Amino acid sequence: MEQFLFVLGRNWKLSLSELDICLRSTPFKGKIVDYSSNIAIVEFDELLNDEFYVDKLEILQYYLGGIQKIAKISDFISFLTLKKSFPIKAIRYNEIKKERQKIKEILNTILDDIFPNIKNENIFFATSIYPNLYDDVYYKEVIIKHFLPFLNTGISKILKEKGATKALYYKYPQKNIDSGNLNPIFPHHVIKYQLLKPHRAEIIFGITEEGIYLGRTFTTDDPNFKKKIDEERPKREFKSAISPKLSIIMLNFLNLFKNRKEKKILDPFVGNGTIALFGLIEDFQMYGSDIKKKKVLNTIQNIKWALNELELPQIPNIDQKFKVVDIKNLSKEFKEEFFDGIVTEPDLGPFFKERPYYTDGIELVETRLQPLYENIFKQAYKVLKSKSRICLVAPVISVLDDSHDLRMEIEAMAINNNFKPIPLITAKRIINKSNRILQFNKSKIFSIMDAKKGQIIKRKLYLFEKE
Ligand SMILES: C[S@@+](CC[C@H](N)C(=O)[O-])C[C@H]1O[C@@H](n2cnc3c(N)ncnc32)[C@H](O)[C@@H]1O
Repeated sequence: MEQFLFVLGRNWKLSLSELDICLRSTPFKGKIVDYSSNIAIVEFDELLNDEFYVDKLEILQYYLGGIQKIAKISDFISFLTLKKSFPIKAIRYNEIKKERQKIKEILNTILDDIFPNIKNENIFFATSIYPNLYDDVYYKEVIIKHFLPFLNTGISKILKEKGATKALYYKYPQKNIDSGNLNPIFPHHVIKYQLLKPHRAEIIFGITEEGIYLGRTFTTDDPNFKKKIDEERPKREFKSAISPKLSIIMLNFLNLFKNRKEKKILDPFVGNGTIALFGLIEDFQMYGSDIKKKKVLNTIQNIKWALNELELPQIPNIDQKFKVVDIKNLSKEFKEEFFDGIVTEPDLGPFFKERPYYTDGIELVETRLQPLYENIFKQAYKVLKSKSRICLVAPVISVLDDSHDLRMEIEAMAINNNFKPIPLITAKRIINKSNRILQFNKSKIFSIMDAKKGQIIKRKLYLFEKE
């Protein structure tokens, strides 16, 4: 069965979860058959029977917030062959030579698959190696320093033997190679170097505990487009805004991949409208509300600007869709059982410059956050259609005088209000790994953290379905 390699984002658990939820949906049914902290290997049930499956893969790439690239896999090399051809200590030179010859033969075959024409072509390629984990000593010491140069010169030589006029490759900075800190090229490089064109390619080598998957990049995320919308919109608050990627991932957790244009999604804490903007870009009908009039006006201004930039039609009666509403009155301002989903990042507490004391944290949770979240579930139940989902962020607060973070009983609150927790990762669907860092310690994971190192208020993502 044909396999595809998905390059995961920085928060690989979140990317894996988004991908798995998408692979449970009808248009993209499939399974993750292997993974590392950087890639997932996917087999689709039916997608490939479709004559236009490449278009579908492009739609999938466009829909997924946490996937950087999708590659089509041409071959696989077992981990044993890799270790024998590139051992940590080179002693048995004859065996090494023999094993490396096997890799060269595989490269010889896959290059015909990767490039439709080689003879008399000016070929340019970039080699991207995704390790199992970036801080693997084997990656730093052997893969970057020996395997990468072997691939670059080997592929170039084979291409010339096959009749290419030129076979140049992308040269990574030598200082990164020497220090062992090397990231494969980013999606914007794939676009900049035009590596999706027939005579140019990004050749991917994705390593897992099982071995190396070899393939060619088919589609890539367009980060410049998202960045432009996010950073150039007229109203934006740098310190508090959720990222475009996280907004898109949360929208995908609603599991609405069919007839998106008909699906009505609400963000009742719309702020400057990040979720609403990216929801519109991802084809949903978006609605929003906020307690502050200024925020609602900012969102409307941002949406009008974005639609104008994208040369899309403006939304008629936009002020009927984006309104000033306190969450406790949500069901008075929007019709009951009206929405197909809610995606939101509510008030997460004040922007702390330093970690608060435990007592101050508890006071914040008990007096402000807990009542707010109670109201969210009460009101969401009323305005959501039955079996529809709410995906929301809740804060996890790091305090000065306790090693444990402060968090709310979000699941209990949701269950009390007749919502069922939906697992973000079901271990049964994803083959487990032997490296502890890559394992899932529970059979079902109901929340995933998204935070940077040292962040005082961290975002935790939850997903629930109205019973
Ligand atoms: C963390 S911000 C949301 C930021 C938003 N995701 C964005 O991209 O700009 C939370 C928002 O909730 C609003 N808010 C706070 N309390 C509220 C309430 N009781 N009802 C509705 N909105 C509220 C605030 O005005 C603020 O705009």
